[in-house]
Amino acid sequence: MALWDGRFSKKTDKNLNDFNSSLAFDSLMYRQDIAGSAAHAAMLAACGVISGSDAETIISGLDGILRDIESGALTFDKKSDGETAEDIHTFIERELTERVGDAGKRLHTARSRNDQVATDLKLYLNDEALNIIELIKNLARIVREKAEKHAGAVMCGYTHMQRAQPIVLGHHLMAYAWMFLRDIGRLEDARRRMMAENPLGSCALAGASYPIDRFMTSKALGFDAPSRNSLDGVSDRDFCVEINAALAILTLHISRFAEEIIIWSSWEFKYMELDDAFATGSSIMPQKKNPDIAELARGKSGRVFGDLIASLTMLKGLPLAYNKDMQEDKEAIFDSIKTVKDCLSAFAPMLATATVLEENMRAAAARGFINATDCADYLTKKGVPFRDAYKITGQIVAECLKTNATLETFPLESYKAASPLFESDIYDTVSLDACVAARSSYGGASPESVKAQIAEFDNIFITRR
Ligand code: ARG
Repeated sequence: MALWDGRFSKKTDKNLNDFNSSLAFDSLMYRQDIAGSAAHAAMLAACGVISGSDAETIISGLDGILRDIESGALTFDKKSDGETAEDIHTFIERELTERVGDAGKRLHTARSRNDQVATDLKLYLNDEALNIIELIKNLARIVREKAEKHAGAVMCGYTHMQRAQPIVLGHHLMAYAWMFLRDIGRLEDARRRMMAENPLGSCALAGASYPIDRFMTSKALGFDAPSRNSLDGVSDRDFCVEINAALAILTLHISRFAEEIIIWSSWEFKYMELDDAFATGSSIMPQKKNPDIAELARGKSGRVFGDLIASLTMLKGLPLAYNKDMQEDKEAIFDSIKTVKDCLSAFAPMLATATVLEENMRAAAARGFINATDCADYLTKKGVPFRDAYKITGQIVAECLKTNATLETFPLESYKAASPLFESDIYDTVSLDACVAARSSYGGASPESVKAQIAEFDNIFITRR
């Protein structure tokens, strides 16, 4: 029997029922739906809208349903009158009424599925945002540990994917740690804003004609306050979009990191060796070791971006208040949540178990003149205007390229020919360790700066816990 049976003389067409139904995906929210219903029943009784004994019957009936769903005794494919329920809200209410009779039929007083679904979704996303924040913290911790371990490991820093200036791996890794901290901040912000307003009690669109206490249900469900406008309460899905956007940015970061790990694991670079348990082989090429996890993490960001665009497009132009289009919100955000959780769960142990090949990084850093800026700075510090120092150094690099020399092996007399200001201490200046140690400005790439950066990260990270 459909909820709207009184007005209708025919059963819903079977195909339309399948098209209309959301139970296959919104059943994920059963816990939140039950919690919302229990809070609503308790409030209705406290306000004298239903009797205390009806509320007790409803709440214990809901407890039983929750237990049976969790144990597997009650499954969502259960049919009544040959029909499966349209959505999780209908499913729980119908099951309750089958179990407890008339009290169950009173539960939907001063409530609509419109405020119910908005409330359930907020509660569900709040729980999942907290789960994801924990997973990001775990990854950030792994990144920070690796950064500390390799705080002195010299490598090339790149721009345009060309060797640029020497840095240490710890510095490169910490860049991702800060990104993940911002991701946590974005999710926390979105979560806080989402939980500031409780839609429950907005009813279908216009509020209720019963003396309900929306502050009571807000408190019981962990919201700061009821939404101030019932139309906004039922039609707002900003929270969905905001969380999806935060997840999209997170996967963007993961995909950049994944890309680097893929590059670093290649024979051309060999900066990193993935653990055998976190790599795969080829069906035909016996020598292959493929970074599938990193590639999938990189690729799956596309799904999360797509979900975000799907939600924005679905909401664009919708008139107030509820429209059935909005049922599409859940599959998109649920897919993003699952994707992000899968990516974080696979990426974190892959990174934790990967071995960094410091010697290879250092060997690569020795070629490519990444100490040329330091050579120019040497002259600048002796009074040569930077532009002139830059030009002289460029000529030295060109000379080195002709003679297959490096700035470390370029003869002193050739240096002096380029500028009489060069002395033998130029060799100390252009040594990679000296170059990297010199970048001791705040937030710079020197091992000392990186250690200070990690200490600062720990401070912020601990207060976020
Ligand atoms: N399954 C619906 C959704 O996800 C619940 C709200 C239905 N409300 C309605 N008036 N049809 O949006």
